[in-house]
Amino acid sequence: MATEEITLRSYNKRIDRSRIEKLEQKCEVGPSENTYIFTDTLGEPVCRIRNSPQYKMLVAELNNELVGVIQGTIKKATINCPEESQARVGYILGLRVSPLHRRKYIGSTLVRTLEQWFIANDVDFAYMATGKDNEASVKLFTDKLGFVKLRTPAILINPVRYHPLHISREVEIKKLDIEQAENLYRRCLGSTDFFPDDIDRILKNKLSLGTWVAYPRGESWDSEFESNGRFPTSWAILSVWNTGDLFKLRVGKSSLSCLLYTKILRLLDGVFPWLKISILPDVFHPFGFYFMYGVHCEGRKSKALVHGLCIFVHNMATKCSDCKVIATEVGECDVLREHIPHSRYLSRAEDLWCIKAMKNDQKNTLIKIIRTPPPVSLFVDPREV
Ligand SMILES: CC(C)(COP(=O)(O)OP(=O)(O)OC[C@H]1O[C@@H](n2cnc3c(N)ncnc32)[C@H](O)[C@@H]1OP(=O)(O)O)[C@@H](O)C(=O)NCCC(=O)NCCS
Repeated sequence: MATEEITLRSYNKRIDRSRIEKLEQKCEVGPSENTYIFTDTLGEPVCRIRNSPQYKMLVAELNNELVGVIQGTIKKATINCPEESQARVGYILGLRVSPLHRRKYIGSTLVRTLEQWFIANDVDFAYMATGKDNEASVKLFTDKLGFVKLRTPAILINPVRYHPLHISREVEIKKLDIEQAENLYRRCLGSTDFFPDDIDRILKNKLSLGTWVAYPRGESWDSEFESNGRFPTSWAILSVWNTGDLFKLRVGKSSLSCLLYTKILRLLDGVFPWLKISILPDVFHPFGFYFMYGVHCEGRKSKALVHGLCIFVHNMATKCSDCKVIATEVGECDVLREHIPHSRYLSRAEDLWCIKAMKNDQKNTLIKIIRTPPPVSLFVDPREV
């Protein structure tokens, strides 16, 4: 079928809401040919982007049928380049094409049209994240659309048990107020890729449940540390975003559903033999999750402190009936991977971030960004999850 028949336009809530939900249900995104993750946007398809400073959703129609959708956001953020520190970046997410209409250049047309919106809004770089094993998506962005591979972070997922877990007595945990959290993040993570200039807006958002620091018991957290630089000998920080209030996820089963279901339960049973199978998180019905962002630590004992903070977040999640897993994303070289509790089976070893210059005069900067060694820590904007 010829591409001319495809029409693209901005999302219109009245006409498109339920049609997008139906499309989303048909579109699997997942690592294996049998297991897929579906997103339930709770009747608000723009829920994943509306917390960003600027956002857009485009839909594609073919003979009056809604066959594709894409979302994009724009913000000012840090870039990992020695000479330039900030840029306007456009993030691409939620690209879906109806399975019956794939390979008709609908996906690429949607991305190209979103790029036009980025260019019209003075965006320097566009970037996106996908599963490293999502061949269609990787080929579309890298082979067809000129994106280049930037980072391969890991997504770590930890199931929420039905009871709180023990936190070491050696770990002291304290909640920071928003201003303290903002200052600390700007100071220690402000130079990492895509660190958002509007971090204060993220921290103030009602989905952000708070920011906590951990330090060795016996030491103190001086609230004046920003001015005098007196930190505990080791410390760790993280913030929590309640994604479940925005959208739900569901693990889908293929036609081999019964077989797969049994296989997954057996697998999970192998991982958690001390748990009865009936009390494992039910990921086959819509569930919410907490996203831990801004995870960072310093000092000799910091790994144990990060672990303590993660257990603290887990225990918080046990009080939220809807929260079935806790997710986070860490850099490829980040040793924190080993200290953040996660299930090997639920976690994705490698995500892939790709980037493209939107302006000709930014092509040299892009080469520098790619050549600059990645910072150890990663800041993942929770609005882009
Ligand atoms: C990824 C997706 C959006 C592609 O949409 P699409 O409309 O089929 O893509 P296009 O027709 O524009 O494909 C353009 C190019 O991308 C590559 N490509 C697309 N699908 C591919 C596939 N299944 N296998 C290999 N390459 C593929 C090809 O290079 C293709 O060009 P070609 O047909 O000339 O070889 C679609 O497969 C989809 O909705 N997948 C499920 C959701 C998803 O994974 N989204 C991406 C998350 S970031």
